[in-house]
Amino acid sequence: MSEPLLSEVSRPGRPGHQLPACDVPDAPLPEAVLRDELRLPELGELEVIRHFTHLSQCNVSIDTTFYPLGSCTMKYNPRINEDVARLPGFALLHPYQPEETVQGALRLMYELQRALAEITGFSATCLQPAAGAHGELAGMLMIRAYHQRRGQGHRTKVLIPSSAHGTNPATAAMCGYYTVAVPTDARGNVDPERLRAELDEHTAALMITNPSTLGLFEEHIQEIVQAVHEAGALVYGDGANLNAILGMVKPGALGFDALHINVHKTFSTPHGAGGPGAGPVVVGPTLEPFLPRPIVARDAQGHYTLDGGGPDSIGRLRAFYGHFGIFVRAYTYLRMHGADGLRRISEAAVLNANYLRSLLQGVYELPYPRTCMHEFVLSGRRQKVLGVKTLDIAKRLIDYGFHPPTIYFPLIVEEAIMAEPTETESKDTLDAFAQALLAIAREAEANPDLARSAPHTAPVRRLDEVTAARKPILRWDSGRK
Ligand SMILES: Cc1ncc(COP(=O)(O)O)c(C=O)c1O
Repeated sequence: MSEPLLSEVSRPGRPGHQLPACDVPDAPLPEAVLRDELRLPELGELEVIRHFTHLSQCNVSIDTTFYPLGSCTMKYNPRINEDVARLPGFALLHPYQPEETVQGALRLMYELQRALAEITGFSATCLQPAAGAHGELAGMLMIRAYHQRRGQGHRTKVLIPSSAHGTNPATAAMCGYYTVAVPTDARGNVDPERLRAELDEHTAALMITNPSTLGLFEEHIQEIVQAVHEAGALVYGDGANLNAILGMVKPGALGFDALHINVHKTFSTPHGAGGPGAGPVVVGPTLEPFLPRPIVARDAQGHYTLDGGGPDSIGRLRAFYGHFGIFVRAYTYLRMHGADGLRRISEAAVLNANYLRSLLQGVYELPYPRTCMHEFVLSGRRQKVLGVKTLDIAKRLIDYGFHPPTIYFPLIVEEAIMAEPTETESKDTLDAFAQALLAIAREAEANPDLARSAPHTAPVRRLDEVTAARKPILRWDSGRK
């Protein structure tokens, strides 16, 4: 069963419009644009409204469902963020307005730049990048410019831990680098010895995510940063997991040279389905001259201006200043929580993840049995032996009313199940989710077909996800020839 298409509910002769009588003389229309038949569904206005309202209710979102999508930080988006972003003084701005008429907006951006630099321990911020991957691009272009400026253009190798998100190697490759994967040790850390063995005069950077995508804090991070710097290379931090360390660890203080921040994750702006987001990039003094421009500056008289930067800037990354509406939401979130509130966010995110992990780890395998940060990665290996793969478990969770966690990522964990509950969920929700996963594990033993044929209650059954992504059918077709 699946949701009916408009073509299926269409009935010949059912009008959806009432045109007034024509009050101008008829005029001949060009033959070339005339058609005998216009194949549109025939429906009344109410049917159309019901159809689309019903479809919208089939959507899963953080407002309807627990959404523990690991590495995505699907936390509640407080409504006050939306209220502030809709204030006419923000919502009705035009990017071509003269600076003196948008001082409030520039001040917001300036203060957001400073807040993000303070939270992460860096000296400067550019808000422009449109998402995390775009922030990575900014960071790696700066690192490339830095080496070229020093006559070190021969540094063409970038080291990336084997647990990394796919955007890391993709970004490095887009900047013209070749990448080398650094293996993970038995505790889930980057193996410092293997890293050292790869560091040489050709190494431009290490791209590292801390906490890693295994949800683990790198136990040798200071040793790693030192080794990279001793080799003349720089450390790029993927800050997608910042939600675990707010108010506790500053990547800048660990010696990182640059970091991007997925504000749409950590600072609660709505995301999923491709955007919009924002991926501001923060840097230390080494990379400051290379920062993309413009950024917002404040002059001695307290006026906010757009600073076009010096000759070493890698330049503009996108039109105008970035996703301003997202900045307003992130700034609101920061001001609502304050420094203490931000720390409590991370404490609760880590506590929730460890609570959920402890409920599940006996039944599902935990490949790296350590205290986790804001997320954890299980393996569905035991269930696979019974004939129920991680994909089946994820689909069966939909029947229990939950959005599945991230699956099959990170790639180094076989049958990976990566859950990030976030700080905004209650103990009751975590208990209910754990009960569902434990029930599915029991079903895998008693009746594996139940999961293999899931979902049973969703509006659509199992999809051919590859074809749906590669050859989507986006146009209505009446099917009549
Ligand atoms: C660890 C990590 N790095 C980078 C990214 C890319 O961020 P974005 O999706 O905002 O481009 C993600 C996104 O999920 C991520 O989880």
